[in-house]
Amino acid sequence: QPSSTQMEGSSLLRRENCRAKGGAPGFKVAILGAAGGIGQPLALLMKMNPLVSVLHLYDVVNTPGVTADISHMDTGAVVRGFLGQPQLESALTGMDLVIIPAGIPRKPGMTRDDLFKINAGIVQTLCEGVAKFCPHAIVNLISNPVNSTVPIAAEVFKRAGTYDPKRLLGVTTLDVVRANTFVAEVLGVNPKDVNVPVVGGHSGVTILPLLSQVNPPCSFTPDEISYLTDRIQNGGTEVVEAKAGTGSATLSMAFAAAKFADTCLRGLHGDAGIIECSFVASQVTELPFFAAKVRLGRGGAEEIFPLGPLNEFERVGLEKAKKELAGSIEKGISFIRK
Ligand code: NAD
Ligand code: LMR
Repeated sequence: QPSSTQMEGSSLLRRENCRAKGGAPGFKVAILGAAGGIGQPLALLMKMNPLVSVLHLYDVVNTPGVTADISHMDTGAVVRGFLGQPQLESALTGMDLVIIPAGIPRKPGMTRDDLFKINAGIVQTLCEGVAKFCPHAIVNLISNPVNSTVPIAAEVFKRAGTYDPKRLLGVTTLDVVRANTFVAEVLGVNPKDVNVPVVGGHSGVTILPLLSQVNPPCSFTPDEISYLTDRIQNGGTEVVEAKAGTGSATLSMAFAAAKFADTCLRGLHGDAGIIECSFVASQVTELPFFAAKVRLGRGGAEEIFPLGPLNEFERVGLEKAKKELAGSIEKGISFIRK
């Protein structure tokens, strides 16, 4: 009599082989930090994505329970759990996309940069694993401070000789999701019909919504511009304060991360015209990294779009954003180079 674990193991393999032979679209996705506040709902959403054939859930705690739970969902993706550093190799081997929400979140009164001390090391270790075990995977980096963790990841990959700037993407989708929501509220329309480009970075004044480039085209009063810019730049703090010490955005972030991951998978799949904002290596400004609209394709961020015409308010905002970003990027780079 085979045990339930043996039965599960052979059935999972049968399903994987069947997928591989049948040509059904399917990518292998790992979530690192999968048992956390973002990781759990993100795992749920990725298990629902028909482009995902295999879903690996890795964390340093609690993945057996999360994996058992998620694996009972009757959707196609095969789910496997991995616990702790010794299992990082198995978690990463063969992955097409690695999503990283591992790290500590803010409490009221903290800036994202206050997370640097702990999260920089976590991101370094996990990216060393990516470089070793799935060097060709696309990486979606969520861990804060994104303005510094993306440069950290880039330095780790450079050191390992695996760096491809097109495959390293900082996730700023939550800024776009918030901007769409708040702008739609002001306009009195459905947020799904609004698209607001948000460029720069992912922290305070580096979050630069381009309200002059909202699609469909619309105009705002100076008061509305000031209200919207402030609310979008401080959306994360709004949630941190409302959660009163229990964490930062997790549910809206999981939604945003799943949306961005789906965009990356559709790009990998060869779909045309896939465009999202992301914090990437770029020549859009004089800074080595900047969030801008990117076109996603089989190679990752295949094209980065220029910022387009900015109004005076946005030009002033851009200068402030660049000043802060320069320091955060340098801090990330020197963390690895020191
Ligand atoms: P959380 O504390 O609920 O979960 C983090 C998880 O990471 C935990 O399960 C923890 O065990 C795990 N972890 C810690 N060290 C690890 C390691 N070395 N390897 C694997 N897993 C490890 O936090 P959260 O609310 O899920 O937030 C996670 C991160 O995402 C924070 O840094 C937060 O600031 C950031 N965040 C980013 C955005 C964004 O827009 N980019 C939005 C929200 C939150
Ligand atoms: C967010 O924007 O919600 C995240 O970056 C988390 C935070 O600390 O604000």
